[in-house]
Amino acid sequence: MTKSAAFRTPLTGWTAWPALAFLAVCWPFTTYAAGAEWELERANNDVADIASLQRGARNFVNYCMGCHSAKYVRYNRLASDLELSQDQLVSNLMFAAGRPDETMRIAMPEADALRWFGTAPPDLTLIARSKGTDYLYGFLRSFYLDDSKPTGVNNRVLSGTSMPHVLWELQGLQRAIFEEMEREDGVREQQFVGFGTVTPGTMSADEFDGFVRDTVNFLEYTGSPEQLDSRRIGVWVIVFLLVFLILAYLLKNEYWKDVR
Ligand code: HEC
Repeated sequence: MTKSAAFRTPLTGWTAWPALAFLAVCWPFTTYAAGAEWELERANNDVADIASLQRGARNFVNYCMGCHSAKYVRYNRLASDLELSQDQLVSNLMFAAGRPDETMRIAMPEADALRWFGTAPPDLTLIARSKGTDYLYGFLRSFYLDDSKPTGVNNRVLSGTSMPHVLWELQGLQRAIFEEMEREDGVREQQFVGFGTVTPGTMSADEFDGFVRDTVNFLEYTGSPEQLDSRRIGVWVIVFLLVFLILAYLLKNEYWKDVR
């Protein structure tokens, strides 16, 4: 195949330097701008933590599956990945299914969901891939009281969401505190400064963060279950490469000993 001019990259030789310099200058601003807009805390979840995934699966089944499915997750796959016995699977997670080879579907018809919420609750199997774990961690923790909304709550991360605050008994109820502040250009506007507790929940703030972290961890797992395997296999690949390195080194010595 002949290489046409259009395939040649324009970033070669000296022309690359101004472009790279420009990128280097802009980079800090782009990350700063994103940070200021979302103020998302890190979820800090760990997909290799099986106990956390088990708790997350239990949370998901008990608190989310009333409305959300995870229709690409099969129960028996879940059991083997999360190291659960068939009994544990059936008695702790399989409330909505009859057989372990079924997927995590829900009974709520989409038409009803649309009528009740205005938006059908999305399937959550791949949500951590599309939105990111930090987003989910932030979303589930930032519902606040807002009388103007039909659900009685609004959300800092997804403003105007039609999802009710389903974890209110655990987290309690909070209000958002806004203060009027002057921007650099002199315009005064209401800025969010934090949350204040109105009614405490059954969990402490730390316990609730842990509950949400486990749930988000489970959703990261459902989005990419192969992660568990690739981590396990990855260790053996590294071990193999190290052993191979030693063998290759010995072989090289063997070959070169007569040459030198
Ligand atoms: C009572 C029904 C209900 C329950 C229970 C529920 N949700 Fe939702 N959820 C909704 C609805 C409705 C939406 C659509 C909201 C929207 O688009 O404004 C939604 C949207 C979402 C979204 C998408 C947000 C986005 O950015 O688009 C996520 C993530 C989510 N829910 C997570 C959860 C998790 C995790 C649980 C369990 C702890 C849960 N939900 C429990 C009704 C529910």
